[in-house]
Amino acid sequence: MLVGKKYYLMSPGPTSVPPEVSLAEAQPIIHHRTPAYEEIFSEVNENLRYLFQTSRDVYTLASSGTGAMEAAVVNLLSAGDLALVVNAGKFGERWGKICKAYGVNTILLDVEWGDVPSPEMIAEKLKESPEIKVVFATLCETSTATLLPIKEIAEVVAKTDACLVVDAVSGMGVEEFKTDEWQVDVVAVGSQKGLMIPPGLGLITMSEKAWGLAAKSTLPKFYFSLAAAKKNLVDRQTAYTPAVSLIYALRQALEMMKKEGIENVWKRHQLLAQACQAGVKALGLEILSKSPANGVTAVVAPSEIDGKTIIKGYKEQGIIVAGGQDHLKNKIFRVAHMGYAGTFDVLTAIAALEMILAKSTYSFEKGAGIKAAEGVFLG
Ligand SMILES: Cc1ncc(COP(=O)(O)O)c(C=O)c1O
Repeated sequence: MLVGKKYYLMSPGPTSVPPEVSLAEAQPIIHHRTPAYEEIFSEVNENLRYLFQTSRDVYTLASSGTGAMEAAVVNLLSAGDLALVVNAGKFGERWGKICKAYGVNTILLDVEWGDVPSPEMIAEKLKESPEIKVVFATLCETSTATLLPIKEIAEVVAKTDACLVVDAVSGMGVEEFKTDEWQVDVVAVGSQKGLMIPPGLGLITMSEKAWGLAAKSTLPKFYFSLAAAKKNLVDRQTAYTPAVSLIYALRQALEMMKKEGIENVWKRHQLLAQACQAGVKALGLEILSKSPANGVTAVVAPSEIDGKTIIKGYKEQGIIVAGGQDHLKNKIFRVAHMGYAGTFDVLTAIAALEMILAKSTYSFEKGAGIKAAEGVFLG
């Protein structure tokens, strides 16, 4: 925390946590092998199904989002299997890295950062290599703030024997997502983004098709065995000690999302993204993504001031935003409006940007960003 300054966490994970959630998290620990815990956990599981828009179970793991991703790989596949990886940025790349670590062969569908693959591209790869067992994709590619067309990709994959596994770590609770209706087989999520709780929980759900594949999987697994998670969930339990405080936090956050209504949560994020994009564009800046996400906006830094200096400028005002990774380092900055975010978070981010730009040689109309963003909110 910057001393003497109000702290605004506007990174695309971790995101800020509502006070109600922090208070829930601070409740005294109870033992998890008790009816009292089981009651809380049941409520969480019921509301997770609502969040994921599924009638299936959602398993909670004491891990970050990558743990849920790794669980997907080790539970579905065997060494030497073939998988298709949609590689549209840092997190698509991560699917490939996890597969490689476990000896799973991959075909990488490389997409230019900021762009999205067409469903036809995926259909073509599946036709070329019918032995592909899993297609790995990302709902929101956080590194480029890009929303991928998962519904359309799922339509293609559902017609084949392959399973679709989606990293929705930064998309769940932000973007429209319907696990069952879209026929997404496996969904992996992390807690510190749209879910509005601190880091430390991984969530995952599996379709019957995925369980069929899991029955043949021989990759090593112990802590991340979903068969163990499934068996324990029958008794409203987890196989190992759960992160009890985070379960309290999740219960509160899910209750808040349910009260707001999941469609309204999606709509709120859409409006925040539209306002942020409008503000940035009115300042003459460019959005990196061709398919901008609703939880985070990636902005191309102008030639007069690099991304690193803009991020530093934000930090000096108490605001934490993210930079670019790999070849986008210093070239972009990413402002999140994800989870516990509202109108005045976006207006703050745009106002701060104007103040940063005002100190550089970049020429723009002062107030234009705020005016445009307010215009979106005013309708
Ligand atoms: C899309 C996406 N996938 C995966 C991850 C990795 O999650 P974690 O850092 O919780 O392991 C992140 C978080 O940065 C992400 O945004």
